[in-house]
Amino acid sequence: MAKFIIEGGKRLIGEALISGAKNSVLPILAATVINGNTSTIFNSPNLRDVDTMEDILRSIGCKVNRVDNMVYVDSKPLNKIRIPEELVREMRSSIIFLGAMLARCGEVEISYPGGCEIGPRPIDLHLKSLRKLGAHIDESHGFLYCKAENLKGCEIQLDYPSVGATENIMMVAVKAKGTTIIRNAAREPEIVDLQNYLNSSGARICGAGTSVIMVDGVDNFQSVEHTIIPDRIVAGTCMVASAITGGEIVLKNIEVEHIQSIIAKLREAGCMVYNNCTSLKIIGPRRPNAVESIQTLPYPGFPTDMQAQMMALLSIANGTSIISETIFQNRFKHVEELLRMGANIKTVEKVAVIKGVTELTGAKVSAKDLRGGASLILAGLVAKGTTEVNNIFHIDRGYDQLEKVLQSLGADIKRI
Ligand code: UD1
Repeated sequence: MAKFIIEGGKRLIGEALISGAKNSVLPILAATVINGNTSTIFNSPNLRDVDTMEDILRSIGCKVNRVDNMVYVDSKPLNKIRIPEELVREMRSSIIFLGAMLARCGEVEISYPGGCEIGPRPIDLHLKSLRKLGAHIDESHGFLYCKAENLKGCEIQLDYPSVGATENIMMVAVKAKGTTIIRNAAREPEIVDLQNYLNSSGARICGAGTSVIMVDGVDNFQSVEHTIIPDRIVAGTCMVASAITGGEIVLKNIEVEHIQSIIAKLREAGCMVYNNCTSLKIIGPRRPNAVESIQTLPYPGFPTDMQAQMMALLSIANGTSIISETIFQNRFKHVEELLRMGANIKTVEKVAVIKGVTELTGAKVSAKDLRGGASLILAGLVAKGTTEVNNIFHIDRGYDQLEKVLQSLGADIKRI
């Protein structure tokens, strides 16, 4: 099994190009089934989750080709309505096929996603909303059997601005008769990207990026070309790499507007950040300041996907910081690994209290989930001695050769 070996203590300096967003490309690849035509997707990151998504598309009859960062999907030949269970298990976010397949075929069978590394991933909001749009959904033996002969637009008030539920509703609503209004919709940039992709292929959606989204159903869709937005979490992770090593990094191909909450917390931690709209320079402090409070929240709040990386940084801060994880229940698995490296962190339910130490020491640690794994690499960059990060398949799910990016900035990291 592959692992990363990191020799800590190198100050990272240089320029990094940020890849396309995983959380954008995955729902958009699922949405390619809707148009029954071709989709050419540019700026796709090369990730294990993207491979899985392509495998799902092939398994239901679509033609898929990838050349570097371009993915081509022809969904005309789609001829199956059952999503293979083993692929759903590999990637919980495959639940976004529910809406996409209902829109295309009026029918889908998919296994229930169940829990995952970061805790239970309920889909009650997805199911309630799709039923309101006219879908009949039977749940039995861990499978969902969904059918919809008459999808009809309606008004949906989400109890929580769930990203996945908002995406599933949008995908069904583009084909439903009449108008759908989603209130308390998720406002993440990836929702805007999905809107832009769907509109380019003929859908009529407006309001993405605000908490009210309106969708007018249409019958005809066309082939489409679309470029995926930059990954705000990869950008944030590289920013922490600069912050934690007292480095000086320039990031290119980013949307600065998407990472304002991360910039704000890194400035509180003592970083200097200079930016225009699409690039940014971040200079790390000699030692980070503690940050009084970080609370993960739906966008535009601080992203749950940056919680672990920020914790790695604060573990060497001057003073005590508090992080509250309000989105997922089980998202502190990196804590026990950071403790092995000498961090001083206590957690009570969804709150972590981080007392900054002057030095982390290299250790043999294990990635328990994607972002937690990234936090261990970051800690390894500053730790004294050698850090060995195991189970890095979690990290490969969401970072396109992170070690290459870090090496180009001067880090001593090897994949073995
Ligand atoms: C979440 C993140 C998203 C991130 C993605 C990948 C938020 C709000 N969402 O999206 O930014 O890109 O993970 O890591 O930060 N929930 C229910 N019932 C449902 C759906 C969700 O109770 O039917 C709850 C979840 O348990 C969770 C919260 O709502 O506590 C947010 O879930 P949701 O936004 O749907 O998660 P993802 O779409 O996975």
